[in-house]
Amino acid sequence: MAPLLGVIIGSVRTGRVGPTVARWFVRRASADGRFEARVLDLADVVLPMDLSGGPGVDELTRWVDGCDAFVLVTPEYNHGYPASLKLALDSVKLEWRGKPVGFVSYGGTAGGVRAVEQLRQVVAELHMASVRDAVLFPRVKKAFDAHGETSDGAAIDGAQRMIDQLLWWSEGAGQPYPHG
Ligand SMILES: Cc1cc2nc3c(=O)[nH]c(=O)nc-3n(C[C@H](O)[C@H](O)[C@H](O)COP(=O)(O)O)c2cc1C
Repeated sequence: MAPLLGVIIGSVRTGRVGPTVARWFVRRASADGRFEARVLDLADVVLPMDLSGGPGVDELTRWVDGCDAFVLVTPEYNHGYPASLKLALDSVKLEWRGKPVGFVSYGGTAGGVRAVEQLRQVVAELHMASVRDAVLFPRVKKAFDAHGETSDGAAIDGAQRMIDQLLWWSEGAGQPYPHG
């Protein structure tokens, strides 16, 4: 059975570009075929800001628990990543641990790279392994055609390297990380 790659759409903004970016990446991962990709759209999950738990948190926790590796699809907002993504990361604890994570970012001229550098600090505290290669889309509104495809060769190459690294880490970890 193929390991499960959880792709999280981090943006919940009205009129967001995030789903276009995420769908493109899922097509790359599916074409590669070594992972089974599953998408979680944070716009569909209700997470309380006070971290008091509830059905949305239970749903997210089960979903995270079932995945072997993750890709966070994130925009850059004011040189950081969106609050929706931080809330999701903070709402789950043990189930993130010991799992690899990669990043697909997008934005203006910097392509979301500042959001990713911040995320790397956060996922380290969650005891995740962030992989080296990432995908970034500068000037995201011009990066995709009407079919949601891109001719950005660096992004296509980066996606493949990231998938290779996520697979290596998810196999290398071997055993689930002991909770606690
Ligand atoms: C509140 C806000 C702040 C933004 N700040 C940045 C920024 O600091 N750097 C950047 O490259 N793009 C910035 N942008 C542009 C976004 O990256 C771009 O609009 C992107 O499409 C947002 O992702 P979304 O459409 O999935 O919400 C900002 C957009 C918003 C809404």
